[in-house]
Amino acid sequence: MSDAVFGNRAPVGAPMSRVDGRLKVTGAARYTAEIPIEGVHHAVIVGSTAANARILDIDTSIAEGMPGVVKVLTHRNAPKLPAQVGKPPASRVLTLLQDDVVHYNGQPVAVVVADTLERATDAAHRVTATYDAREPLTDIRHAGRKEYRPESANKEADSASGDAAAALSHAEERISREYTTPIENHNPIEPHATIAVWEGDQLTVYDTTQYVVGVRNTIAKTFGLPADNVRVVSRFIGGGFGTKGSTWSHVPLAVLAARETGKPVKLVLTRRQMFGSTGARAQTEQRVTLGARRDGTLVAIRHESVSYTSRYEDYLEPAAVITRSLYACPNIETTHRLVQLDLGTPTFQRAPGEATGSFALECAMDELAERLGMDPLELRLKNYAERDPESGKPFSSKSLRECYRVAAERFGWARRKATPGAMQDGDIAIGYGMATATYPTNRSKASASVTLTSDGRGGIDAVVQTASQDIGTGTYTVMTQLAADALGLPVERVRMELGDTRLPPSPSSGGSQTAASTGSAVEAVCREACVRMAADGATDPASMAAWLSRQPGRTLTVRAESKAGKGDDDYAKHAFGAVFVEVRVDRALGEIRVPRIVGAYAAGRILNAKTALSQLIGGVVWGVGMALEEKTLVDPRTARYMNANLEEYHVPVNADIGALDLQFIAEDDPHVNPIGVKGIGEIGITGVPAAIAGAVYDATRIRVRELPITLDKLIMGGGSAD
Ligand code: MOS
Repeated sequence: MSDAVFGNRAPVGAPMSRVDGRLKVTGAARYTAEIPIEGVHHAVIVGSTAANARILDIDTSIAEGMPGVVKVLTHRNAPKLPAQVGKPPASRVLTLLQDDVVHYNGQPVAVVVADTLERATDAAHRVTATYDAREPLTDIRHAGRKEYRPESANKEADSASGDAAAALSHAEERISREYTTPIENHNPIEPHATIAVWEGDQLTVYDTTQYVVGVRNTIAKTFGLPADNVRVVSRFIGGGFGTKGSTWSHVPLAVLAARETGKPVKLVLTRRQMFGSTGARAQTEQRVTLGARRDGTLVAIRHESVSYTSRYEDYLEPAAVITRSLYACPNIETTHRLVQLDLGTPTFQRAPGEATGSFALECAMDELAERLGMDPLELRLKNYAERDPESGKPFSSKSLRECYRVAAERFGWARRKATPGAMQDGDIAIGYGMATATYPTNRSKASASVTLTSDGRGGIDAVVQTASQDIGTGTYTVMTQLAADALGLPVERVRMELGDTRLPPSPSSGGSQTAASTGSAVEAVCREACVRMAADGATDPASMAAWLSRQPGRTLTVRAESKAGKGDDDYAKHAFGAVFVEVRVDRALGEIRVPRIVGAYAAGRILNAKTALSQLIGGVVWGVGMALEEKTLVDPRTARYMNANLEEYHVPVNADIGALDLQFIAEDDPHVNPIGVKGIGEIGITGVPAAIAGAVYDATRIRVRELPITLDKLIMGGGSAD
């Protein structure tokens, strides 16, 4: 609308560099731990060295006498807090020094506060505890495990349409396979960090979080404060990926330490402390059973997933949810069961459910294709879902066919040999693999405000505000573009402010929902401002500026809320994509290389071609890590995380990544939400592990159903040759 009216140069869609890019590369962008606070003290958490235990004794006497130490909090002297009132998973069951029970290794058992970080760290090392520990359970694949169906968890545990059992018993072809994925940790480069500052009964919390409003609510409830007394600020965030989507124990502990010492307190977790108390991707064991006719038509799908949770809270890794919507099939049954382990509660991690679940489902599709003698892509096209199989609703838009076509063509899928092991280059076996990618489009209620001010020279400055977060994805930038477009102003005249609970509330930056939710609110409020001015006949920049100069303070402020409305439920809403990979496997050494990945994705309207592509790249690279490298190792004797550092927890580096040819397919979706966008933060990782597993099989005839696909599984028989 505004484009036509104002002839603006339509910043939305342009590959604009980040508006905060200069601040970031010059170091001027201050991340939480860098915010200077007068007189700040440092808190260091002492983690338990046992799991499944009780604290018999804890000795803080040496630490308390050390120079600079102002307080050592333990369950013996920590004040009792109001009972935990949060509702998982948005707010978590926390471990806040309230009793002597230890659930997981690394659980906070003491907090040391001193005047410098070095003194606090030193003193924390002198706190000693003894435990009465029982043997922990650290792996879901233990004998005699007790599975249960969670009554209330983050997702519906079971689903059933049709009669999968009957259809499977009559199916012409049937395969049933088990796939496993390990515990994986998020490892954002910026660690969790909190600074708590009390002024009387007013509290300011600087926190690295994906959800400032969530932190505010959790802190207010935990300390029995009115929400208005708590301000949470999070201006720059060095990656979240789900671990910063919840308020974990260290945040209220920092607040408590500040209250008990009367000092502002900074608490930054070490890399090691990021393993255990801030969530992880849950280990899964998934069985996929497919029934099909000989022509490849699916007649039944059953997807059963078991994952772990902690002893004190249910978190369900929704691995089988993807199976409810991906392929056309009249009989689909999915189940999720939990097993309790003596570990910290797992949580969302980039494409929670879709990342783990697409590995199992897409590998099983490959195995069925081979059984049928079909091309894997042909099998997927044969079962293309024109409507959402779960709800029967039409998709708001679905361009998956085009994604398959474009990516297959660019990859050269037609050159694939039907027989695995047929492509060789000396000692190197070459394989091709592919998979479908998908992620739902989520949206939550969001609000924003805009303040327009005349500069007195015929120009207008806009300040747009919302309590959203930029977790590194480019939120500052795309919101600036949306506002500039809707207001008909150059992007240079728009300033975006976010990351502060004093601004209009916005949802968590999770579930790939920020563009759809906060973006819709930003656009709505800017249009509302235009409508107000247009009512007085101000419909172009010059008349708007003139109109503004007549207002008190030469300014106009408008606030608006945006949420899904009537008819919004009429469609199933998902982004889709197709990913193709080539692997090269050294036959003697088992070393796996991924020289190229080609992907095509349809995700509605793309707000910024540059930041959007960056999201895809990040997701796909993580997919390579998930396929080949990542696994959190837990010592079965103590439940201690054994590779809690970036040396031994492997993530991809540049040398691990070959050519990436990733692109978006144009998709115009008038139904998905007011601004036509789908989420792009998470879809990139989905499908990649299965595509790589399929390519490894194509190269070696070894089917590895257990992630990560490390070389031992190729040369020592960890996979199965079939
Ligand atoms: Mo994401 S795992 O929804 O932060």
